[in-house]
Amino acid sequence: MEGLDFSGKSTLVKNLRALLSDLDPPPYFTREPGGTPAAERVRAVLLDPELEMEAWTEAYLYAAARADLVRREILPRLESGRVVLCERFLDSSIAYQGAGRGLGVAEVRDLNAWAVGKVVPELTFYLRLPPEERARRARESGATLDRLEQVGDDFMRRVEEGFEEIARSEPDRVRVLDATLSPERMAKTVAREVRDLHYTRGSGA
Ligand SMILES: Nc1ncnc2c1ncn2[C@@H]1O[C@H](COP(=O)(O)OP(=O)(O)OP(=O)(O)O)[C@@H](O)[C@H]1O
Ligand SMILES: [Mg+2]
Repeated sequence: MEGLDFSGKSTLVKNLRALLSDLDPPPYFTREPGGTPAAERVRAVLLDPELEMEAWTEAYLYAAARADLVRREILPRLESGRVVLCERFLDSSIAYQGAGRGLGVAEVRDLNAWAVGKVVPELTFYLRLPPEERARRARESGATLDRLEQVGDDFMRRVEEGFEEIARSEPDRVRVLDATLSPERMAKTVAREVRDLHYTRGSGA
């Protein structure tokens, strides 16, 4: 699951857990940055609003956390035939660090090559949310913004364009979802596709 802040990724994941709990084995859910003890520590550093750092430092930290998650949690499960659902993955680094921070899409992809190895998503759901709706949800949430969310609108526009470019260039992998639809409808659509993956993988056989 990919998309800008407030696009509804966490909400979607919560609903998917419920809708897919009957699968045997159920999909493994995880999130980035995080998902392992070391990666959760890195997450705390990355999201700390008090901490300033260079864009490349940020990019390496995301890649470092990803390397841990891929090897310790994701790869072993994929090898056993299980479906893994991850909230944010490589595309977020491409969009935020590559496009948003301006490090370059190719550069951030290269940096991550060793972190992900052969693990690339078969299917990515990009939750597309118009900027006005994003702003509305942000205001409504009233939450204090974390370090990345604080950055201005120009940054978010570049991140959005980063996601859009990924969706354009990899239409077979990336399903674009209208994130203004109801949470129930979005979850139903995604659950159907995950079910198909589960059965074609053989983990349901
Ligand atoms: N489909 C939806 N329709 C309307 N509002 C939604 C929908 N999905 C989520 N929301 C609301 O939008 C806000 C952000 O949702 P959520 O936390 O799931 O987004 P997120 O993509 O996980 O954000 P972040 O990247 O910041 O973690 C929440 O207040 C949530 O209730
Ligand atoms: Mg979330």
